[in-house]
Amino acid sequence: MDSQLLERTAAELVAAGKGILAADESNGTMSSRLEAVGVKASAETRRGYRTNIFATAGYEIAVGGVILFDETIRQSMDDGTSVPDYLTSRGVHPGIKVDTGAKELAHHSGEKITEGLDGLRERCAEYFAMGARFAKWRAVIRIGEGIPSPANISTNAHALARYAAICQEQGLVPIIEPEVLMDGDHTAERCYEVTAEILDATFAACKTQGVHVPGALLKPNMVMSGKACPEQASRAEVAQLTVDCLTQHVPHDLPGIVFLSGGQSDEDATAHLNLMNSMDVDHPWQLSYSYGRALLAHALQTWASGSGEDSQNAFAHRASMNSLARSGSWSAELEG
Ligand code: 13P
Repeated sequence: MDSQLLERTAAELVAAGKGILAADESNGTMSSRLEAVGVKASAETRRGYRTNIFATAGYEIAVGGVILFDETIRQSMDDGTSVPDYLTSRGVHPGIKVDTGAKELAHHSGEKITEGLDGLRERCAEYFAMGARFAKWRAVIRIGEGIPSPANISTNAHALARYAAICQEQGLVPIIEPEVLMDGDHTAERCYEVTAEILDATFAACKTQGVHVPGALLKPNMVMSGKACPEQASRAEVAQLTVDCLTQHVPHDLPGIVFLSGGQSDEDATAHLNLMNSMDVDHPWQLSYSYGRALLAHALQTWASGSGEDSQNAFAHRASMNSLARSGSWSAELEG
């Protein structure tokens, strides 16, 4: 394992003012998002929409890496440059989603286990040769009556740790993503308990597998009320609960935490990150973003209505707002 390379890549991904763009929706998910805004989905429309975003001017001050799907890392920009070579030439690390999706967990109705470990070493080696320098694997944890079960937590923690070890062996910084979903009517306190439990299990498994924590990143949910909970935690409560939970349950030698947006509004995702970075405490890790929808929802709508330039402007705006939130310098007035 080249721990120096891993630590350097991780530090570059969460350098001051920078976060990550998650553009790694599977073909199925990306196609439904395109169809939802009236665009016929195909490999070419997925390429056209995404490469237009990648060609946006100036976003490299806000984005240190872009997570790609297997289809996209093999596609090219309009001038024929491969997508990973183009991103690298802009100073943006190409990343790759390497899990093969969350499947039903046997004997545990409603719970999921993320698959993709078989052949992972060979796939990581191929992606590294194509220019990828980091990877993502997403585990999905649902809160409900009697769930998550111990089986759901331990199998996902084990898979995340094995994935992380294999990536590191192949020179890719693993983004470890145990996502506790916002779906449900649970309170923010219940989200705290479950998030704490999955983080403990994940880092214990990482320790067992020998994962080099200073060469990895964590992509967690924020600690929030379920979408259907009648009592919603305020922005300030979300920020405080999240930082408390992470401080207690995430190793302090991890270089960075890059949140997912998980269905939050664009502005909530930015405001929460801004509040966390405005606290009068020195957090042990960089607190940053790896947003998908909260960076691109508006950009997708504008692209569908026909303007590549407006789509780039919508993305550039959200990227700059989140970049400001990295240092607590965002305010609602800047939203215009
Ligand atoms: P969202 O920010 O849209 O939740 O996507 C981030 C991601 O990559 C989820 O795996």
